[in-house]
Amino acid sequence: MRIFAQMRRNGESRIMKEKILNRFQEIYGDSEGAKVFFAPGRVNLIGEHTDYNGGHVFPCALTIGTYGAARRRNDRKLRFFSMNFESVGVVESSLDELTPSGQAGWTNYPKGVMWAFEERGMKIPSGMDILLYGTIPNGSGLSSSASVEVLTGFILRDFFGFAVSNQDLALIGQYAENHFNKVNCGIMDQFAIAMGKKDHAIFLDTADLSYEYAPITLKGAKIVIACSNKKRGLGESKYNERRSECETALSELQKEIKIESLGDLDEAAFEKYQGAISSEVCRRRAKHAVFENQRTIRAVEALKKGDITEFGQLMNASHISLRDDYEVTGPELDALVEAAWSIPGVIGSRMTGAGFGGCTVSIVKDEAIDGFIEKVGSIYENKIGYKADFYVVEIGDGPVILP
Ligand code: GLA
Repeated sequence: MRIFAQMRRNGESRIMKEKILNRFQEIYGDSEGAKVFFAPGRVNLIGEHTDYNGGHVFPCALTIGTYGAARRRNDRKLRFFSMNFESVGVVESSLDELTPSGQAGWTNYPKGVMWAFEERGMKIPSGMDILLYGTIPNGSGLSSSASVEVLTGFILRDFFGFAVSNQDLALIGQYAENHFNKVNCGIMDQFAIAMGKKDHAIFLDTADLSYEYAPITLKGAKIVIACSNKKRGLGESKYNERRSECETALSELQKEIKIESLGDLDEAAFEKYQGAISSEVCRRRAKHAVFENQRTIRAVEALKKGDITEFGQLMNASHISLRDDYEVTGPELDALVEAAWSIPGVIGSRMTGAGFGGCTVSIVKDEAIDGFIEKVGSIYENKIGYKADFYVVEIGDGPVILP
C-alpha cells in the first residue's frame, strides 16, 4: 500500500519549478523565455451526475495537479512534451493543424483548447514550446484532463493577453472537451479547477453557473482519497448512456410539468410526476439526479451549521443512490466505500467523479487515518485482488503562475 500526502507549499513549488525548468532545458535545448504555471486537479465532495441535469455540485480544487512550463516561439510550430509520458517524446504540431487525431495522444487536450480559443475568434499569434508534469495519478478520476485544459487556457491568456475570465477558461475547457475530444462532460471539473480557492469548496448551480464558496474547516478531520486502480474500460460510453437516460426522463416529465431540467424538481414533485417516465431504468436515473441535487443543497446547509455528521451521512446516501439507482459504482468502488463505512472515525465516504472506477472520497478523523488506510487497503486487496492507493489531500487554489 502506498501512502501519499501531497502538498504544494512555497518551498515545494520552488523545487518543482526548478525540476520542470531543468527538464524543459534538456528537452528543448534551453529554457530562455519559459514561465512555469500550475493548475489543480479536483475532487467532488457531493453532487454527482447532477451537472448535466441542471443541478448543484460541491467540488474543490486540490493541491495536486498539473505543472506546465511554456514559452512563445517565433513561428507557428507547437512542441509538446509530458514528463508523465516520457517514452512518447516530443510531439510536434502546428497552429495550422488544430484537429484531433489518434496520433496526437495526450496533446489533443492542449490542442483542443487552442482550437476552442480560435473558434471564439481569439487567434493565437505564435507557436509555443510546452512541457507538462502532472502529480494527479493517471486515470484516477481526479480530472487530469480538465486540469491540462484549464492550464492551457491560463497559459494562452498569460502569453497573449486574451480578455477571458477564469470562468471563461472553464467554459472553453469544457467546450474543447465536448467538441474536440468528443467527451460529453458537464461543467463541474473545469469550473472547480479554474475557480478553485484554498480551503473552500464551490457550491455551484449548474443551471445558471451562480456559485458560492463554502469554507471547509474540518476540525480534527481530513479528506482522504482512495484510488481503486480499476482500469476505466467502458466508462465513457456508460457516461453518455446515463446522460441520454436522463434526457429521456426529462422529455417525458416535460409533457406533464413545466421544467427546464431535472434540477428543477424536489423530492415531492418527483414522487408526484414520476409516473410520466415510462421506463423503470430511466425513472431510477432521474430519481438519482433529483434526490442527489436536493442532498447537495442540504449538505451545504449542514456544513454551514457546522453539522459535519449530517454532511457525512448525506455523502453516504449519495453513494447508495449512485450504486442502486444510477448504477455507476461497481465492485471496486463499493468495496472501498463499504470498508470505509465499517471504520470508526469515518464521517462519510462515497465514490467521486464519473464512477466505473476511479476514486472514493472520505472524511476521516485525524486519529483514524492511519488505521483507515491500513484496514480499507487490506480489505480491498483481499476482495479485489490488487492494491488501492491513498492520498490525504488538501484543498488548494485555482491556476497560478509559479513565482
Ligand atoms: C465527470 C464529468 C463531470 C461530471 C462527473 C459526474 O467527472 O466530467 O462533468 O458529470 O463526471 O458528476
